[in-house]
Amino acid sequence: MSTDTEIPYGKGDASFQAAGGVAGLRQLVDSFFDRMSSDARFAVIYAMHPPDRESSRDKLARFLCGWLGGPKLYSEKYGSIGIPRAHAHLAITDSEKNQWLTCMSEAVAEQPFTPEFKRYLMEQLAVPAEAVRKRCAAVRHTG
Ligand code: HEM
Repeated sequence: MSTDTEIPYGKGDASFQAAGGVAGLRQLVDSFFDRMSSDARFAVIYAMHPPDRESSRDKLARFLCGWLGGPKLYSEKYGSIGIPRAHAHLAITDSEKNQWLTCMSEAVAEQPFTPEFKRYLMEQLAVPAEAVRKRCAAVRHTG
């Protein structure tokens, strides 16, 4: 019998399924942006987004589907993407990275995911978040 700790989240679409598929990820992204828009702790990163916040929700939800091993919904609609490059024009330092990860971890905590998957997902998201911070720092240093 398998337990949560034995589920290989990185394999196939196990993570996508653990997140509740497309509907689960859309719900997560809605919680994330609702929180970002209404909590002053996240005002700096909220203000960085373009005015069309619906499009930002759609892009992040679609990206997460493919990133977690599900259908490649981002590239189907928007084409290919490199996460650090997509943020290179932004002023993202430790502070903005921490806002993003805090906002996301609070949104993840609200979801009906298992505790193991919540922890796994946040560990995984910390990797591209750090890559974004590094890319933005490199862009600032080279002008
Ligand atoms: C490190 C902290 C992060 C901050 C402050 C941040 C902030 C932003 C902002 C402001 C935008 C809108 C950019 C624009 O249209 O001008 C954006 C776009 C996006 N972000 Fe992030 N982000 C962060 C990390 C991440 C991570 C870790 C992921 C993925 C796991 C991600 C996925 C995306 C995607 C898919 C888009 C849409 C890109 C596009 O289609 O152009 N972001 N982010």
